[in-house]
Amino acid sequence: MPQTYPHPFAVGEHQTALVSQRQPKSPWGLGNPLCIVGETRERRHVVNSEVTDTAQPPHSARAAGPRRSSRRRRLAGVGLAALVLVGASACSANEVLFLGMPEPASEQADIVASFWEGSWIAAWAVGIFTWGLMIWAFIVYRRRKDEQGFPEQTRYNVPIEALYTFVPLVMVMGIFFFAARDQHELTKLTDDYDRTVQVVGFRWSWTFNYVEEDAYEVGTPEDFPTLWLPVDETVRFELTSPDVVHSFWVPDWLFKLDVIPGQQNEFEVTPNKEGVYAGKCAELCGVDHSQMLFNVKVVSAAEFDAHIAELKAAGQSGQLETGR
Ligand code: CUA
Repeated sequence: MPQTYPHPFAVGEHQTALVSQRQPKSPWGLGNPLCIVGETRERRHVVNSEVTDTAQPPHSARAAGPRRSSRRRRLAGVGLAALVLVGASACSANEVLFLGMPEPASEQADIVASFWEGSWIAAWAVGIFTWGLMIWAFIVYRRRKDEQGFPEQTRYNVPIEALYTFVPLVMVMGIFFFAARDQHELTKLTDDYDRTVQVVGFRWSWTFNYVEEDAYEVGTPEDFPTLWLPVDETVRFELTSPDVVHSFWVPDWLFKLDVIPGQQNEFEVTPNKEGVYAGKCAELCGVDHSQMLFNVKVVSAAEFDAHIAELKAAGQSGQLETGR
């Protein structure tokens, strides 16, 4: 029976009947300002069906109450949109350009940033097209002053249903294709790296073992360690943990990887901008999780060599199994 199977997107008599039996409340949850539009539309449906059921003229006193409050809701919606616009204009140019992402500070981060920007461009294109269609329908098919009853009801339009099954499928496959392609590139291990840094994430700080240089740096929750890296050189990271799961995260590289006990996770990165970058543990790992901070200092090759010499002079030669 078609009536027992209302399609979520079909607008037909059965849907109106369903809505009119329900309380005129938003099905998406009360109190959410984003639901204003949905709520208004439903109330309109209720008013219409009441008018039809009881054969009253459309401008009865019963219809006036909800109409006026829907106008107030519309005003509230406009106010909310204005607030969002004001808030959005407070962003820096960088935030607008990278849509909230930090500026990429490695070759690999550029891949993530392009994917992020491309996704937003695609989402905006779909959004603007869809809003355009909606606004067009609101205006062209709005109820005119002297109109009564329902407009022509269309249901089970196979070409349209096939279209709105097929188009989202194409979109999801597109996102999947680019995500899989970029993930493959980002997690790819080459034999073409310049140095190895073995990272030990422990409760609650980090050890950085410079493997080829045979030197180490270790931090404590009170005294965060700094990892030095030469600019434009590819580093192979080897991540291990002696205790629980941590996560090695440098936000400006737009990348993080879990640090798992009993397993060595690896990735390669090529920092391409000199500077000091914040790093942190991105996995809730215990009482001092929030203290698992570190810095990454990207410097010239000469400064890097000088720093390694300093470490050795301070007695930090060799490799640490753990920091504890
Ligand atoms: Cu280690 Cu959170």
